[in-house]
Amino acid sequence: MSISFSPDRSGDDVLLALPVISGEGIEGRLPPELAEAGPIARAAVAAARFNGEAGSIVEVLAEIGGAVKRVLLVGAGTALDAERAGSALITKLLTSGDTALTIDVRSIDSAKRAEFAARLALAASLRSWRFDIYRTKLPARQKPTLESVTIIVGDAIGATEEAWSPLKASAKGVAFTRTLVSEPANIIYPESFVERARAELEPLGVEIEVLDEAAMRELGMGALLGVSQGSEREAQLLVMKWDGTGGAADPVAFVGKGVTFDTGGISLKPGAGMEDMKWDMGGAGAVTGAMRAIAGRKAKAHVVGICGLVENMPDGKAQRPGDVVKTMSGQTVEVINTDAEGRLVLCDAITWVQSRFKPKTIIDLATLTGAMIISLGHEYGGIFSNDDALADALIAAGRTSGDKLWRMPLGEAYDKMIDSPIADMKNVGERAAGSITAAQFIARFVDEGVKWAHLDIAGMVWASKPGTLWEKGATGYGVRLLDQYVKDVLEA
Ligand code: BES
Ligand code: MN
Ligand code: ZN
Repeated sequence: MSISFSPDRSGDDVLLALPVISGEGIEGRLPPELAEAGPIARAAVAAARFNGEAGSIVEVLAEIGGAVKRVLLVGAGTALDAERAGSALITKLLTSGDTALTIDVRSIDSAKRAEFAARLALAASLRSWRFDIYRTKLPARQKPTLESVTIIVGDAIGATEEAWSPLKASAKGVAFTRTLVSEPANIIYPESFVERARAELEPLGVEIEVLDEAAMRELGMGALLGVSQGSEREAQLLVMKWDGTGGAADPVAFVGKGVTFDTGGISLKPGAGMEDMKWDMGGAGAVTGAMRAIAGRKAKAHVVGICGLVENMPDGKAQRPGDVVKTMSGQTVEVINTDAEGRLVLCDAITWVQSRFKPKTIIDLATLTGAMIISLGHEYGGIFSNDDALADALIAAGRTSGDKLWRMPLGEAYDKMIDSPIADMKNVGERAAGSITAAQFIARFVDEGVKWAHLDIAGMVWASKPGTLWEKGATGYGVRLLDQYVKDVLEA
């Protein structure tokens, strides 16, 4: 679907949407087109009890300038809620048979119009994303028909294009993440993930480096390699470098859990619902999409993205419960449960990024624990951090971007729960506080003085029902969050 802006209407637009701000006395705020359309159209609006509530829509036929048009009044709420307005329009029209939509936002106050129009475009872009490539028999009525959205902004055209440019990069990052997350595990496995990232990011100037299993063995990454041991697929450590500061700033590291399929290993998961574990690489997907977003808008920031990519499978070579592995840090781990594999991947990735790039800030993203979904459901990702300012900045970026976060605790009592009788630590605690002990495990690999935040996004990567900005399926959670953080903190 193409999205564009124009100062004026072309006249041959037959499907026209007009935003309306909510509040008392709606008649006074109806667009002038409705006056021209006459009493029948206004009666239709009244009959629908349309009040401009964000995301509500009323459709009328109206004769405007001598031509019959379909006019959609779309509620923008009191706060110019472009996301809900745009989402409602796309939800209604994407598969409606219509091909072209014009949204005329010139009634919006000129001081706020560019931002509103750009956010509308973002919503249209995100809400219209589909993953249909494997559906060869999709009924015609379910196929997207809407090809273009044109937003009419009057003399705010320059400011709108300027506001849209970074949001467009962000939308492309989200789309890329959603594709990676949606692809099944026979298509996306560590090596193919790397190839997709290379194809998408290198043209934008992101430098890619890849460590294969031999390189990781040389470095002593026994925890990450232990997870990969039962798989036919070769593990990969993907490194993506973007420096928009010309070497002026130290890098911030984003680290993603990229388990391209999680069977649980020898601690095998139950069969029901196991297909969900194709998206156990959602943390890596978010990091990779965030790199797409920040490179796409040429962010003036220095960021390295690291993805620990492995497949967790049970075979004759797979690691067993009770095995002791040695991590790159030198610390040893008793693997009580081979299904607690994400932390084993992250610990070596974090040790490596510290030794290689000396980042002062590390943010890791992972679909780490089912317990996180029990705690926060699908509304907030959990954030664990050793630094209040970092946590606050990420929570604020979450609020701005829509990828919401809620702070979770860390502490010595939780840390003790993963002490092992045979090794330095075990990879699981008891059932209680499962997300927190997972975070404590990772904390043991963060160097003194490094600011670190761990984002457990197990409940956020995949949606079983449509949301404002996504169809059911991959959400792209984390991309807009990291992009916003870069903008607010690293580029400030
Ligand atoms: N990838 C899972 C966590 C998960 C579960 C993410 C459901 C999204 C939806 C992770 O590797 C895992 O299996 N965690 C275990 C940990 C347990 C063995 C301590 C879990 O949550 O059950
Ligand atoms: Mn697991
Ligand atoms: Zn997992």
